[in-house]
Amino acid sequence: MSGIMGYVGHRAALPVLLEGLKRLEYRGYDSVGVGVIEAGALHIQKTIGTVQRLERQLRGLDLRSTVGIGHTRWATHGQPTLENAHPHASGRIAIVHNGIIANYLELRQELIAEGVRFASDTDSEVIAALIDRAYRGDLAAAVLAALPRLSGTYALGVICRDEPNVLLCARQAVPLVVGLGVREAFLASDVTPFAPYTQNCFFLDDGEVGILSGGGVQILDLRGQVVPKEIEHITWNPVLAEKGGYRFYMLKEIFETPQAVRETLRGRLLPGAPFVHWAERGPEADLLRTCRKVILLGCGSSYHAALIGKLYLEEIAGLATEVELGSEFRYRTPLVDRRTIVIGISQSGETADTLAGMRAARASGATIYALTNAPLSTAAREADGVLRLHAGPEISVASTKTFVAELAVLCMLALHAAHLRRRQPEAHLRELAAALGTAPAAIEAALAVEEEVEALARRYSRFDHYIVLGRGVHYPVALEAALKIKELSYVHAEGCAAGEVKQGLIALVDERVPVLVLAPQGRVYEKTLDNLEEVKARGARIVAIGTQGDVELRARAHDLLELPRLPELLSPLCSSPLVHLFAYHLALRRRRDVDHPRNLAKSVTVE
Ligand code: F6R
Repeated sequence: MSGIMGYVGHRAALPVLLEGLKRLEYRGYDSVGVGVIEAGALHIQKTIGTVQRLERQLRGLDLRSTVGIGHTRWATHGQPTLENAHPHASGRIAIVHNGIIANYLELRQELIAEGVRFASDTDSEVIAALIDRAYRGDLAAAVLAALPRLSGTYALGVICRDEPNVLLCARQAVPLVVGLGVREAFLASDVTPFAPYTQNCFFLDDGEVGILSGGGVQILDLRGQVVPKEIEHITWNPVLAEKGGYRFYMLKEIFETPQAVRETLRGRLLPGAPFVHWAERGPEADLLRTCRKVILLGCGSSYHAALIGKLYLEEIAGLATEVELGSEFRYRTPLVDRRTIVIGISQSGETADTLAGMRAARASGATIYALTNAPLSTAAREADGVLRLHAGPEISVASTKTFVAELAVLCMLALHAAHLRRRQPEAHLRELAAALGTAPAAIEAALAVEEEVEALARRYSRFDHYIVLGRGVHYPVALEAALKIKELSYVHAEGCAAGEVKQGLIALVDERVPVLVLAPQGRVYEKTLDNLEEVKARGARIVAIGTQGDVELRARAHDLLELPRLPELLSPLCSSPLVHLFAYHLALRRRRDVDHPRNLAKSVTVE
């Protein structure tokens, strides 16, 4: 899994590639590299680490090539070393690759026997060698000859020393988009790298090869036949993706949560019945009325959103709901039929395991929806319907505002289904809809305590273990808090259902393990207080997150962060940004690169 980019046209390729790669770093940042054609020769520059580092390395070089490829890597095969960084060259060919070539060992042996020498341990290098060996003066023909030898997945960018005005690309099961400008063309793993230059693009489908030049773009199938494609238009503003004065994208995005939720509710949440209006291809009323069950699929934070979504759909709409991890569900036999709705929750719409789960459910006859922030993503394009987040671009690897916007959509879905299925007195639904409408302001109020959160993080940043407890709707928030602490600070953190802590986890508790307790007032409040006392009695320091003005909780906890009042089911919309902020400040105290935690990538497009 990695990010790839390519340019051909009338501009110097290098600055375009470097800017574009910065926008792709969310896909991996183990190493980075670019390849251009300069004075009839391939010129490749790579480094371990970030694009900024590569930029420094390139300073002073006068490279004017108007064609080039670039790559930011998340290592799958081969260590994150300089040799294994892309582009990989063989003879006159250089390539960048995202994906996994399953039969590369066999191809490598064959090529070594023919005299090819390899410089890296990657699976990708065989692609360059195969194309070079097939080259007879026509790059497109060489690529078409080489591709059938590959089994596995790929998004490819290819340049050839002898054809400095052309850029080739190909796709098999890994996203790849072509951007069409005036006398120029781009290719990239998503639209963000070329969004400043053109709004026109099209998505390559599996088995397609693109021939890009300043004169235009032609798409072929693997037999070399021309494939007609329809142009799509990018609608969001790339300027929104800039840091806007914040030190890290993550902080900016946490503070954008109120706006993300506001935009996601705008025009959809209605004050009275039917409570929700979906402007897009949303869930069909008939199906929502008659469906037997819903399955919510997701990975990481989106899985945590699914756990909360289950409670919404069950409690508000009385709809039986299962929650599945994409990586597990994809290898089981889905028990679904056409009256099952399967919703893949994925802010990026590109997470491989979620996509595979959606496909498995579709093959078994279920109706598939995508809940995503990326309307042009694979999930959105493959689904029968789309539930959109309007959260704006999220760049930081750890998802924050999109997680909360996912909750807002799931709550609207539950309100809508409850109305259609007549599961609740209308007055109750009206109250809930009104409360959901106040969520953006409540989140703003919750985030106003940033200084307190920072001070707390300072006091608690020296620990190596953290436990986070919550019950009911607060339990998934506890899992979310623990995930963020782990991935950003590189310390152990465990989220646990508060009632379950006595079944084992309590053995870890002592004064060296602070416990974060999510205890807003509501149905499970008293029980959570009992669990708080159990861990406090074992010496743990308690940081509680509770309802504003809760004197009882203040008396029991060592430290307290207060949340504005919201109905209990909605309180995760407020508590989540607060735990995101706490995890951010903990990581900052430990001097971590918050936007780029080690070994991670934003969009996990491999299994
Ligand atoms: C954790 C995090 C990840 C993502 C996961 C799914 O902070 O951000 O766990 O939630 O990779 O991503 P999407 O929602 O794009 O499918």
